[in-house]
Amino acid sequence: MKLALIGAMREEIDPILEAVNEYTTSEYAGNTFYECQYGGHELVIAYSKIGKVFSAITASVMIERYKAQKILFSGVAGGISKDLKIGDLVMASALCQHDVDITAFGHPYGFIPEGSVMIEADSDLRSLAAEVAVDMGIELYEGIIATGDQFVASAERKEWIEKTFNADALEMEGASVACVCQNFNVPFFVLRAISDAADGEAGMDFDTFLKSSASVSAKFILEMVARIGH
Ligand code: ADE
Repeated sequence: MKLALIGAMREEIDPILEAVNEYTTSEYAGNTFYECQYGGHELVIAYSKIGKVFSAITASVMIERYKAQKILFSGVAGGISKDLKIGDLVMASALCQHDVDITAFGHPYGFIPEGSVMIEADSDLRSLAAEVAVDMGIELYEGIIATGDQFVASAERKEWIEKTFNADALEMEGASVACVCQNFNVPFFVLRAISDAADGEAGMDFDTFLKSSASVSAKFILEMVARIGH
């Protein structure tokens, strides 16, 4: 099967590229795409650059040009839930865009006409992740991930996102990849390891824990890849 692995930043895919070891590269639409065989699958791997627009471009190209049949996102997130500590893994049950606001027309936050506030991640991939977590002896949280084109570093904004969307973690790419996948009918999965608590310390914590948390997420994603049916 052709599987796509996406991160937002180079640091989020570096541990994957180190593990697969050998790959070919191609350039398209402003990204480098790394292709290889791994776990009996063909992989296409890329980092999109930060944010909803760049990640939507990358996901679309992976589907249309590289023929990805499933997309798995690996990276880091700011924790909202008090249960989530730095380095913990959270998989998205569903994702939303916390920065969409057309409430002036009577719509709820996060809603775009002909869309939905929440987009659910693929249930088979989530079940597989739950099995992988048990086998690896890792605690894997499942919850709502809120996405927006903002690095959240304030308790007020974080609390608003929690209250409005019942979100457990936040980041800047998951819901846009989810939106692309929903529209192309491609199953997707979003995994994040916590790098910070989206509060006043978030900037410093992110810089400190980006690499270590990104590699926790990447390691888990590669274990899932090896177990996805062909
Ligand atoms: N990704 C990791 N931490 C984040 C934060 N605090 N805000 C947005 N995206 C993030």
